[in-house]
Formats: sequence, C-alpha cells, structure tokens
Amino acid sequence: MNVIQEIEPLKVDKAANPTWWRGAVIYQIYPRSFQDSNGDGVGDLPGIIRRLDHIAGLGAEAIWISPFFTSPMLDFGYDVSDYRDVDPMFGTLADFDTLIARAHELGIKVLIDLVISHSSDQHDWFVESRASRSNAKADWYVWADAKSDGSPPNNWLSIFGGPAWEWDGKRMQYYLHNFLKEQPDLNLHNPDVQDALLDVVRFWLKRGVDGFRLDTINFYFHDQKLRDNPALPADARNATIAPAVNPYNWQEHLYDKNRPENLEFLRRFRAVLDEFPGAMAVGEVGDAQRGMEIQAQYSTGGDKVQMCYSFEFLSGATPSAAYFEEVLTRFEDGIGDGWACWAFSNHDVERYASRWSLSDAATRCYAALLLSLRGSICLYQGEELGLPEADVAFEDLQDPYGIQFWPEFKGRDGCRTPIPWVSDNQNGGFSAGRPWLPMASDHLGLSVDAQANKPESMLSFYRQMIAFRKSHPVLGQGAFTLLQAPDDQLRFIRQEGGTRMFCAFNLSGTPSKAELPPGTWTFCKDAPFAGMSQDLGPWQACFAIEEI
Ligand code: BGC
Ligand code: MG
Repeated sequence: MNVIQEIEPLKVDKAANPTWWRGAVIYQIYPRSFQDSNGDGVGDLPGIIRRLDHIAGLGAEAIWISPFFTSPMLDFGYDVSDYRDVDPMFGTLADFDTLIARAHELGIKVLIDLVISHSSDQHDWFVESRASRSNAKADWYVWADAKSDGSPPNNWLSIFGGPAWEWDGKRMQYYLHNFLKEQPDLNLHNPDVQDALLDVVRFWLKRGVDGFRLDTINFYFHDQKLRDNPALPADARNATIAPAVNPYNWQEHLYDKNRPENLEFLRRFRAVLDEFPGAMAVGEVGDAQRGMEIQAQYSTGGDKVQMCYSFEFLSGATPSAAYFEEVLTRFEDGIGDGWACWAFSNHDVERYASRWSLSDAATRCYAALLLSLRGSICLYQGEELGLPEADVAFEDLQDPYGIQFWPEFKGRDGCRTPIPWVSDNQNGGFSAGRPWLPMASDHLGLSVDAQANKPESMLSFYRQMIAFRKSHPVLGQGAFTLLQAPDDQLRFIRQEGGTRMFCAFNLSGTPSKAELPPGTWTFCKDAPFAGMSQDLGPWQACFAIEEI
C-alpha cells in the first residue's frame, strides 16, 4: 500500500452553480488512446494535461476520464487493484492533481470513472477474501457453494462469455463475476464493503474531482437467494452490444442486477456527494429491457444520482425519426424529475458514423440532433473529428471481449485506437513509440491539426454546434414537445421561460419542408447550417427561435 497524501479541496465554482451538469456537454477521454507523453505507446495523464486546450477549444464543460487507477489492465483499467492511486502507466497522483488544477483553470469540470461493482482479483480485498472462508473479508465478494453435482450455483452468465461463476479450489466455492473472471463482484450487501467504497468516493472528492461516472451502476447488488434468471424469448433479445452472438442477451436479468437494495445504497452515496456542494454522478445503466425504468428510478427524487447514462442510441440499427420519437416520448413520460445523459459513441461500441453508415452530411445532422436534446451529452474522443471505426486486425486485438467472440463480434478495439493529432506522422503525434493499438491510417487525414483551421471541417462543425447549444440554454434544459412530422423528419419544440426553440432534422437524403407552428419565428443564424430556412436540404437541420 502506498502512503496516501490527503490534500485540501480545490476552490472551484461548482458550489455557486450546483446544477452545472444539467444540459452540460461532457467529453469522454479514454486515457490509453488520447495522448502519450513518455513514448511507451500508452496515453497518460501528462498527455491529457497537454491536450486540455483542445477540449476547452471544443467548448465541452466537463471531461469524464475512463479509469486510470492501479490495475493489471485485463479489462484496460475497468479492473481496479487500488482505488486510491494512479497506475504508473498513466502517471502519478501528483499528475492527477496538476490535471485537475489545469482543467479548473480552463473552466472544465473533471469526472472520474468509479468501477465499484467489481474490483480486480489482484485487489488486496480479494486476495484476503479468497484466502479462507473465515477471514475478515470472507464476505466482501459473492461466494457460493457448488450445487450437489458440482456445477455453479445458478444460471447467471458473464457478459464476456461463459458462466458468471469461477471455481476457487482454496475456498472450495464459486465466486461471482459479471465480466472477466479476474473482475470478481464486490458484495455490496455487506455494509463494511459499502463503507470502504464510500471512503474511496470521499478520497477523490477531497482531491477536487467534480463528480463521477459510475460504471455498471445497476450491477451493484445481486439476489441473495441466487435465483435463476428467466429465459428471454428470441424476439426480445434487443441488447446494444453483440445482441446476436452473446448468450448473456438470452436472459432477463431479474436477479443478477437491477436489485431494489441498490436504491438505499445510492442514497448513502448521495449523502457523501452532498458533503461537497455541486458534486455530481452519472450512473451507467446497461439493461436492454428495463434501462429507461431504472434510469428514472436512480435519478429521480434528488436523493440518489443526478443523472443516468442511456444506451438507447448506442445500438446498431440506424435510428430513424420514428425511433427518436418513440425513445424521447418514452423518456419524457417516464423520467419525472430525473435526468438523462445521451451519447452516440463511447469506448464500448463501434463509432456511430460507421455503426450507422453515415455520410459526412448525415453525421453532421445526427450530431446536431444529439446536441439539441434535453439532457446532458457525452461526446467520445474523436467523435468531434468524425472518425470512422478503425479496422483492427485479429493479431492486433487487445480486447478480451473481441477475442472471445471474433469474428462475429469484433470487440471494442476499433473505437479505442489512438487519436490523430497531426497528419504528417505515422502515429498521428499520439506517441513517439509504438502505440498499444495501431493508429488507423484512414484517421491521419482527419487529425486535429488538419481540421482545426478549416471552417468547413467536422471539428469546426462540432465547435459551432456546441457553442450554439451553450448560447441557447433552452436546448439543454428546456421542456421538450414533440411535433408531428413526415417520415424521415424529426421535429420538436424546446421551451424555457419565454424562449421557444423550434428544431427540425431531415434524416434523409431527400429534400423536405419544416413546417413551423404559428408564432413569430426567427431562423437561427448562429447554427452551423448554411442558408437556414424551412426548406430542408438533404440531412439539413433547421432551428428557429421565438421570444414570447
Ligand atoms: C465499461 C466497460 C467495462 C465494463 C466492466 C462497462 O460498462 O464501460 O468498458 O468493460 O463496464 O467494468
Ligand atoms: Mg505513456
């Protein structure tokens, strides 16, 4: 164990505006692939510090940094072996302090990724827990006896393939893991485990973080009776990731996650957050059947998390106007005083421009739509450059999920390749050494450097669209009313106070017309679409504003 140096909380303005996160644009950094500073081919915290200007220039209000904690890296940091330190690969705690200070100087809030549903099997807690059935931490993980025929206690499956149970010859018991067998599931039914995790939360809040992305928030508790999950009929298997090939998607996850006890734990978690005014959390809710219901449960009432991260737009099928209408209506009807966080891309799914086979113009239209939604928005690094999914050869694969299900499902490496900063360097300026995943050659031409000063570039488009969203807070926060529209067109009104904003998106390559409701509308000249009028060219958006 290292010596922990506690530092005074930094003074930032979040207490002055405790709801700063409502409607905010959050930029997700996958640290391994953002910027390397020491030539080892892996991105790191000093690299992030160096590139914070890029994020400030984009206009994002916050960053979410995927895990940089001490880890054997079997799931690339989502397997934490010390929650209170930085993995040497990424830097030091001092680097992290510098990162926060610099981000705050630039007005950027910092969210870190807490992975507390499971730890690494190398964590001291698990090492102790697995040593015997009687040690002080014997019950800190989910241990269960075999059935009389030696098979696992029930039918629960791991998302990464195979049973969710791994046999341990020392304890002569199985332990639960929802992901890799090296990611044993912490037993949050035990109050000591909760206390230890909440201490970790305090540790980072005292260091000055503004909040957390809570990994797999709905996996914190399991059914203590260990009941079998029921089978899901084939036509109901609608998971976002690997729906067809992964048998995890053949079950209804009633008992291995989504348990009611979580609500009480989230209240305890919130009480800790509230010790630090303005601190917030966004919970990642992965559940194909009950995602929306759980997001509402966790984010309503002001006593659990502030918002939940939605999977609704992370799936494979290109979302039609009808799909947006259905999802957004369902959310408006169900979310109450809760709050959603929307994303099209992240480090777990194919980049959306490729996933939905979008042209450049279509990508812009979808980006404008995302940045017009009520809720907070997560953009994934490289999205602002319009990066397509990288083609990663089998021999270069790193992701155990992809290696398991190859080639039917290629895993998550294609969205995790390094960010191209400059075009005239084979590693795109990402690293002086060999990158841990190859730089995609078709990404080089899309580098930050190549796009930064071109008014017509995707990067300029994102900058303008984010600036547009920020200068019209009605887009992030205003009430949402869906309007009737022809097929392939999505139309809605946003309203806050006396401001109404009309938004229409032509999600097709055929011209159509946006019919504005009665009112005194002015077309928004500050939105990044040329010649804005009711006449929608292919993949064009229209914004008009009315002060009433
Ligand atoms: C993260 C994944 C990770 C998993 C297990 C997720 O939902 O986003 O990258 O593999 O949790 O921690
Ligand atoms: Mg490095």
